[in-house]
Amino acid sequence: MDTTTEADVADKWNRNADQWTKDVRNGYDTYRDLFTLPAFQAFLPPMEGLKVIDFGCGEGSNTRRLAEMGARMTGIDLSERLVEHARKTETETPLGITYKVSSFSDNTGFEEASFDAVISTMAFMDGPDFQGTMREAFRLLRPGGFLAFSILHPCFITPGVQWQRDAAGQTTGLLLSRYFERSNFTETWKFGDRPRDEEVTPFAVPRFPRTIGDYLNAISDAGLRITRVEEPRPTPEACEAVPRFARWRDLAAFILLVRAERPS
Ligand SMILES: C[S@@+](CC[C@H](N)C(=O)[O-])C[C@H]1O[C@@H](n2cnc3c(N)ncnc32)[C@H](O)[C@@H]1O
Repeated sequence: MDTTTEADVADKWNRNADQWTKDVRNGYDTYRDLFTLPAFQAFLPPMEGLKVIDFGCGEGSNTRRLAEMGARMTGIDLSERLVEHARKTETETPLGITYKVSSFSDNTGFEEASFDAVISTMAFMDGPDFQGTMREAFRLLRPGGFLAFSILHPCFITPGVQWQRDAAGQTTGLLLSRYFERSNFTETWKFGDRPRDEEVTPFAVPRFPRTIGDYLNAISDAGLRITRVEEPRPTPEACEAVPRFARWRDLAAFILLVRAERPS
């Protein structure tokens, strides 16, 4: 049973919010900039003119990229402080995005069947109720509308995972463990590419491990039809810019991308 509530998740992300926003906007999230967001954008169909809601939008960087692809965006997030940052940027550089503080697992208050697409980037493993999230995605989508999301790959980023190294210190594999463990935990980390001499408090991020079956079955149980699943690898250019990305090209999948539609 999960012991961390949505109120705890909101509290943790409110505390992370200022540093997170600064770091993301300073370009220290190289995974996002060079790998996970370009892969997600390539996974999407044309977005021009679509009415789209971003579940777990954070400070809104990715929501803005989707608006720049021509989508009419709404972003929701549990963290008031992250939404404050997103709104401030929208005021300074308007892209027509509306933001709301709301959980993606409950009734978000938007009208039924009022969106062409529900998207989410790297947020669902950070929320406690994925089944509720899928029910709300189904409710918000018009018939024929689609859901597309990225998450940490549930088969490879397991609770006890560690890199395996040879005697020379070369990374040779990934040692998986505790795949079936579903107890939530809080992970603390900072962006690997931020300057070493700057002392910052690491982010505290609640995580809710699930198996791949938990994810895929919750999508179909909600009435959505899975149409595409991808496990993208970093491009040669990304591996050249950040050599440690090669581990995710050669040894294991870092993210899982899923698309599903609400049947017409
Ligand atoms: C790793 S961040 C990703 C944020 C954003 N999608 C991005 O890629 O920059 C995860 C986000 O999910 C949000 N979140 C977690 N559980 C949530 C829930 N139940 N409802 C809405 N947002 C949630 C957190 O507040 C946090 O902003």
